[in-house]
Amino acid sequence: MALRNITVRGSEILTKKCKPIKAITPRIRELAEDMVETMIAADGVGIAAPQVGVMKRFFVAMPHVDSEDEAIREKIYYMINPEITYREGTQESSEGCLSVPGYMGLVDRPEKIRIKATDLDGNEQEYEFEGFAATVFCHEYDHLDGILYSDIAKEMMTVEEYSERLEALKEEHAEEKAE
Ligand code: NI
Repeated sequence: MALRNITVRGSEILTKKCKPIKAITPRIRELAEDMVETMIAADGVGIAAPQVGVMKRFFVAMPHVDSEDEAIREKIYYMINPEITYREGTQESSEGCLSVPGYMGLVDRPEKIRIKATDLDGNEQEYEFEGFAATVFCHEYDHLDGILYSDIAKEMMTVEEYSERLEALKEEHAEEKAE
């Protein structure tokens, strides 16, 4: 396994539509391992192939980071040629991206999705996600069409501004409780 370089905003690679994967070759398996290693090393919850310079419709995600169950928390989804087949509701998500370092943004995403994809063993799978996990899969899926969350965000802010806002919200909440 090896760490790969993460492409950042400004590179044309991140603006292009990726091509389907035709066969799960040893090279694709190696790419999958490297993407997982790169994602974990960068403290991300998902990474798409174009972010490491490979223009293929493939991403990996680890969306259950807050689960109390270790097996669920560490579950990695391998999404080859994914397709979102159903969207329901709306939620406002706070997002960051390994390709847009230093920023956060507010994005409207579906509350619930169904997504199908081929896994690393070549089996077609269909999943249903809601809440945070749904936003992760929508975010990664967009990368395959050359869309960054910063392209569709309602509002962008620096990581510092975002933490200040969170702090302010916490204080407000604490004051409310004290009253
Ligand atoms: Ni991203």
